[in-house]
Amino acid sequence: PAVVVLFGGRSSEHSISSATAGGVLRAIDRDRYRVIPVGITRAGAFVLEVDDPDRFALDAERLPEVVDNGTRILWPEAGGERRLRVRRADDTVDDLGDVDVVLPILHGVHGEDGTVQGFLDTLDLPYAGGGVLDSALCMDKHFMKIVLQAAGIPVAPWTTVTPTRWEREEQAVRREAAELGYPVFVKPARAGSSVGVSKVAGDAELASALQKAFAEDDKVLIEAAIVGREIEVAILEGRHGGAPRASLPGEIVLTTREFYDFEGKYLGGDGAEVVCPAALADAEVRAVQELGVRAFDAVAGRGLARVDFFLAADGLYVNELNTMPGFTPISMFPKCWIASGMTYPELIGELVDTARE
Ligand code: DAL
Ligand code: MG
Repeated sequence: PAVVVLFGGRSSEHSISSATAGGVLRAIDRDRYRVIPVGITRAGAFVLEVDDPDRFALDAERLPEVVDNGTRILWPEAGGERRLRVRRADDTVDDLGDVDVVLPILHGVHGEDGTVQGFLDTLDLPYAGGGVLDSALCMDKHFMKIVLQAAGIPVAPWTTVTPTRWEREEQAVRREAAELGYPVFVKPARAGSSVGVSKVAGDAELASALQKAFAEDDKVLIEAAIVGREIEVAILEGRHGGAPRASLPGEIVLTTREFYDFEGKYLGGDGAEVVCPAALADAEVRAVQELGVRAFDAVAGRGLARVDFFLAADGLYVNELNTMPGFTPISMFPKCWIASGMTYPELIGELVDTARE
């Protein structure tokens, strides 16, 4: 089959998506799949990218980017032949052949939030991973938490703040933050990779943390910091219609870092380690896997997700679901499946197989 690997995008996680693409381009089984790499520039242009994993390797010094090379992807019309074409910089048009599946490995807004999924639905192109509803829901931490809570899944208590609310009700917001109990996390509702996230030790730091988060999104969560271990589990639906399965759980082990921030995730910052399998008792493993699948079902999950937990003294809390988790060679999602007995190329094969129309 021919697979369009779609990456980059307009979100603050552009580079992380590009690094994920590097990992996928390197590992995808070329005997089985014909690969068409399509990049989305930061400005939003769909370009035909080079099929070169090295160009998109995760390099802390210079994070990978999709650049505008002057080409433009011409998507097929719904109901017609599923043929992809490219307009070159000199205005000539080349046929790229039939497309069987799109693999959108986009993180963040305009990609992991249901918009690209809706676009592909409109074009009637089959695609792997989350659909419109689960992607949109999980991109918005406010609504994700409401849905998880309604399903009886424990989540960290929080309050949601917009710039208008902060302006009009600053004292009430400060009071709510204090009631949650410092330290609290301040996070943009719709971002990922910890962009714009702060751990706030006390009231004096609240305003600056909110401003930093408002720079990413005009909806921000102030969330109680749950004291406990950070456990994550990878969910995969496998072939369309398969029951969702959970991997062995992994753990983010913090040594000197305050939380697993962007630097610790991607810039080689030390003080945080991604470990899989996590050292857990069998009953804990089962509890994580069961709650992971329940959370996936609660958000009408499709294809895959990584479910992030806190394991506290009083049990498990779901922190969030990521419908297109980081897939770079150092990321937790592949690590969990490899620890569970799958190879990276097999995992990509399974992911492509989740595709549906
Ligand atoms: N948002 C990043 C890519 C993750 O969840 O892994
Ligand atoms: Mg996330």
